[in-house]
Amino acid sequence: MKKNTRVFHISDKTYEDQVREAASILRAGGTVAFPTETVYGLGADALNEQAVMQIFEAKGRPADNPLIVHVDSKESCLKLVRAIPDKASILMEIFWPGPLTLIMERKEIVPDVTTGGLETVAVRIPENKIALELIKYAGIPIAAPSANLSGRPSPTTAEHVLSDLSGRIDALIDGGGVSIGVESTVIDMTSEIPAILRPGKISKEELETYIGEVQVAYDDKVHPESETVRSPGMKYTHYSPKSGVILVEGEHDNVVSRIKELIDDFSLRNAKTGLLLTEESKSEFPVHLSYSIGEKDKPEQAAKHLFFGFRYLDERNIDVIIVDGSFKPDGIGMAVFNRVRKAADMIIKV
Ligand code: TXA
Ligand code: MG
Repeated sequence: MKKNTRVFHISDKTYEDQVREAASILRAGGTVAFPTETVYGLGADALNEQAVMQIFEAKGRPADNPLIVHVDSKESCLKLVRAIPDKASILMEIFWPGPLTLIMERKEIVPDVTTGGLETVAVRIPENKIALELIKYAGIPIAAPSANLSGRPSPTTAEHVLSDLSGRIDALIDGGGVSIGVESTVIDMTSEIPAILRPGKISKEELETYIGEVQVAYDDKVHPESETVRSPGMKYTHYSPKSGVILVEGEHDNVVSRIKELIDDFSLRNAKTGLLLTEESKSEFPVHLSYSIGEKDKPEQAAKHLFFGFRYLDERNIDVIIVDGSFKPDGIGMAVFNRVRKAADMIIKV
């Protein structure tokens, strides 16, 4: 069904009215995209099946891929889960509001559509003023996956949301660019040793400081054939631009020379390349179509710019995006590598 997507541009003067209006759309069972600190989310009433189904329809998302439910307090979380395990409680104290999603056993009230039929539910409190007020005014838990068409890079600006979902959702709150740029860390708290299902800004090491041993239950591949992965999202292509993606991983000098060879190869075959570079490698390709994801020793910059860069190059009608993988894999850098590897058609280690 074609929708007329309303866009709320946030300004200080009208801020409250607009967020209230968006909240009333959510309460009435509509879909509203909104900024969070990680990426833009596409929200609907998590307890209303019809509303949640509209999220799946708008995104073209497979029905077995469950959604994250966003709340504004631990009390609201308690209405959704059977119990909060001790370690989960510790993580909530330390990291909420923030980019950490906790998986716990669900109560009956959370419908199957929201959890993809699982007996667990993913919950987080986002750390973004607009998101928090929206949840507060709506007074209901908000299911919200990233606000992109399924399989596309997550949106980090309101323009990205519109380019994927205009006419498919009821409203969008334009709150400017996001601060982190990759999605939250997802951790399953239902196993004896909690397990990270998706890496994000909050790293394994950071989590272990507070709750002891944590397992890693994700890898950087896509598993199309598998039906038993722990996080259904692992089965599907993710974060992908339309163009092909080649990731070149290694030290700066080696990466630069391999990218030069690749450009030559592709130009012989009349294929157009676009580059995602680091600040350090930029000067090596002065005339080439490129976008910088930031300094190689500051992976938080790569996090912020990666999805933007994918979309920027994708709009320029190229055949292949070549990614400079010489940035640091520390902390959030791990999460950035995870996203690029999943998007990549080919990974070259030099
Ligand atoms: O930062 C974020 O987490 C953003 C913002 C909008 O909050 N949301 C987001 O949602 O990235 P989404 O739907 O794009 O990713 C949710 C991931 C998927 O990989 C899904 O499979 C997994 O979390 N997930 C959700 N519920 C789960 C559950 N009960 N068990 C296992 N995995 C779950
Ligand atoms: Mg997503």
